[in-house]
Amino acid sequence: NDQKKKQTIEGLELLTKFYHYLLTTAKYGSPGMRYLEEREFNQEMIERFRIGYAVDRWDAVTHLLQKRNMNLQYMSDAGIIAQRGFDNKYFDRFRNRIIFPIFNMRGQPVAFGGRTLGDAKPKYLNSPESDVFHKGNILYGFHLARPEIRKRSQAVLLEGYVDVVRAHQAGVTCSVASMGTSLTEAQAAALKRIADTIIICYDSDTAGIEASFRAAEMLQGDGKVIKIAKMPEGLDPDDYIRKFGGDRFKSDVIGASQTLMTFKMNYLRRKRNLSDEGDRLLYIEDVLRELTTQRRAVERDHYLRLLSEEFSISMDSLRKQLQQMTVKVQ
Ligand code: GTP
Ligand code: MN
Ligand code: MN
Ligand code: MN
Ligand code: MN
Repeated sequence: NDQKKKQTIEGLELLTKFYHYLLTTAKYGSPGMRYLEEREFNQEMIERFRIGYAVDRWDAVTHLLQKRNMNLQYMSDAGIIAQRGFDNKYFDRFRNRIIFPIFNMRGQPVAFGGRTLGDAKPKYLNSPESDVFHKGNILYGFHLARPEIRKRSQAVLLEGYVDVVRAHQAGVTCSVASMGTSLTEAQAAALKRIADTIIICYDSDTAGIEASFRAAEMLQGDGKVIKIAKMPEGLDPDDYIRKFGGDRFKSDVIGASQTLMTFKMNYLRRKRNLSDEGDRLLYIEDVLRELTTQRRAVERDHYLRLLSEEFSISMDSLRKQLQQMTVKVQ
């Protein structure tokens, strides 16, 4: 089994080189290169992330693997090639797609994410779970971002491959992605081990915003500062940086990120009309209700003080009311 893992990774390393070669050197790679140029990814990032291109053929990879005497069963188990039903012949699974190799912590390729150049479905074809790839244990870009994350004890968590590549291109090199919106416990643990501040910057759509709350709750812990960054409705970090540039991303998105509670307070505030006395009381109750789930006393007090100052209510009454609500909730 260790032998199988080793050979699988060797196969994936060979293919990473092959796809990258096709993109950067071979004339067959020009559709991929044109696509990346159109999206304004630079050569440095193509090298750093070892991005590649799978040509629009059924047997390019299969042929290479055969020629190199690689174990086709292993490559099939890793989801790179598949067998036709009627004659059991192998064929390439990734065709006419940009290839984002997914690396483990040691920088070895363990899977691929393949993006269509057009609007083929699915938009991203990913390697399936295999002996070497457990999606929930891996963050995209982690092996590259890790030194910077350690150095600053700060990480930026994004959704997608292209967001990570774009963020690194803009100089935000502590960025990694959960590869979709559902952060796993293992991914959260890996980040928490080396970062005290984690900024979540998921796509600004309903799915992304709701997922940020879930991610923030998973990341919270003693000594951790978890913040949520938000962008104009509908944009993701890649869109934002292309539209407004990396500097504004750093200052207006990452720099303006808010703690989960402040983010929620602003969200609750927008539902109420604070110039109305009744609404003001309802807003205060909304916030207190949120605070009933806040276990850390220091943070609870911090937000109570904000309420106390803004609405001129004594800390004492706020604490009392919070206590009553907490009893009721339990
Ligand atoms: P672009 O459209 O190229 O800018 O990519 P994106 O990263 O903005 O895509 P999106 O926001 O739709 O998805 C975020 C991440 O979720 C992607 O980078 C993938 O990791 C994952 N994802 C999206 N679509 C699919 C899909 O169809 N299949 C799988 N397996 N993963 C997907
Ligand atoms: Mn190269
Ligand atoms: Mn999305
Ligand atoms: Mn997106
Ligand atoms: Mn995008």
